[in-house]
Amino acid sequence: MAQEPPQIAIIGAGIFVKSQYLPRLAEISDLVVLKAIWSRSEKSSMEAADIARKVFPNVECKWGDHGLDEIIRDSNIVGVVVALAGQIQVDMSLKLLKAGKHVLQEKPAAASISEVETALSCYNSLYTNPSAKKIWAVAENYRFEPAFVESKKLMSEIGDMMSVQVIIEGSMNSSNPYFTSSWRRNFTGGFILDMGVHYIAGLRMLVGCEVASVSAMTSHVDMTLPPPDTISSLFQLENGCSGVFVMLVSSKSPKIVWRVVGLNGTVQVERGNNNGRHGYVTTLFGGNGETKSNFYPFSGVTEELKSFISDISIDTLEKGGKIKGEGRYSYVEGARDVAVLDAMIESGMKQGAFVKVKKF
Ligand SMILES: *[C@@H]1O[C@H](CO)[C@@H](O)[C@H](O)[C@H]1NC(C)=O
Ligand SMILES: *[C@@H]1O[C@H](CO)[C@@H](O)[C@H](O)[C@H]1NC(C)=O
Ligand SMILES: *[C@@H]1O[C@H](CO)[C@@H](O)[C@H](O)[C@H]1NC(C)=O
Repeated sequence: MAQEPPQIAIIGAGIFVKSQYLPRLAEISDLVVLKAIWSRSEKSSMEAADIARKVFPNVECKWGDHGLDEIIRDSNIVGVVVALAGQIQVDMSLKLLKAGKHVLQEKPAAASISEVETALSCYNSLYTNPSAKKIWAVAENYRFEPAFVESKKLMSEIGDMMSVQVIIEGSMNSSNPYFTSSWRRNFTGGFILDMGVHYIAGLRMLVGCEVASVSAMTSHVDMTLPPPDTISSLFQLENGCSGVFVMLVSSKSPKIVWRVVGLNGTVQVERGNNNGRHGYVTTLFGGNGETKSNFYPFSGVTEELKSFISDISIDTLEKGGKIKGEGRYSYVEGARDVAVLDAMIESGMKQGAFVKVKKF
């Protein structure tokens, strides 16, 4: 196992790269080498590279079309993290996939359901030789959060599912660094789509089946936010169970909870704090009146990065040409999260009309 760690590049130098990717990569600097950081402008690329250099002393600073070409031509760079504005990420990801890089793209998978469809058909036609196929992952981190991994296991104890509630009262306000983000404000679905994919990912992971149809009302109350800023949706799962998904982007008293009620008990996951650490409290309310609770601090971003790095550092093909990494972070999973929100937003525009969720 004296294998050299794989070399990657980061495409983008925004808030999330500086506040999340660089510190998380620093924690696992024994597993990966950050070879380059790219941004459209020299200035922001330099700023991010200055932070990264503390841990990855040889990181190269790249910018503009020329810098991007250098990354594309550098065959030592096997994987890239793409963290750009939501409107331009898919084109960039496809360009890099075509150039033979594995891609971990920041969520959302695409800006709309029509873009998802085009993206998937482009991806599937990129490789004439299936063994040349590269991983296209979407970073949403929730499917890697230990709280969701563990509470999914508890689902077998609650018997037949009767009802699901997802209540999201977000805390997006002017103190939040993303509040003024111009691309998020120029996005159909606004913050609901950008933030909401996480909560749908949590829902789909817990219940272990797809959302089949929705009926939703949306509204725009807080004029400091782009529309819509609230959504109240009914949904039905493929297993027949129904539920509610309520999300508002900004609340003075944030609360984030998923609750699945079964014939024989209830599983709940709720955002919380423990000794100053942020994370989730998972609770099993058992059939006999007992409750079991656990706290899991956030670690999904790191777990997801580790998984991507491990998948790109070993031979990426399994027997039969199936690509590794087609699990929790595959592009299709991210696409399904967008599809649910897209259906809710569409229903909202039609005053609550019944809308089937597009299948991928
Ligand atoms: C924004 O929300 C956070 C978290 O709820 C809160 O601590 C902060 O005071 C809020 N800021 C404003 C300007 O409302
Ligand atoms: C908003 O998005 C539209 C369509 O994607 C684009 O033409 C326009 O330039 C964008 N405006 C800003 C301010 O980003
Ligand atoms: C329901 O819970 C009871 C008490 O915990 C247990 O004995 C029983 O096996 C459970 N039934 C199902 C279907 O899970």
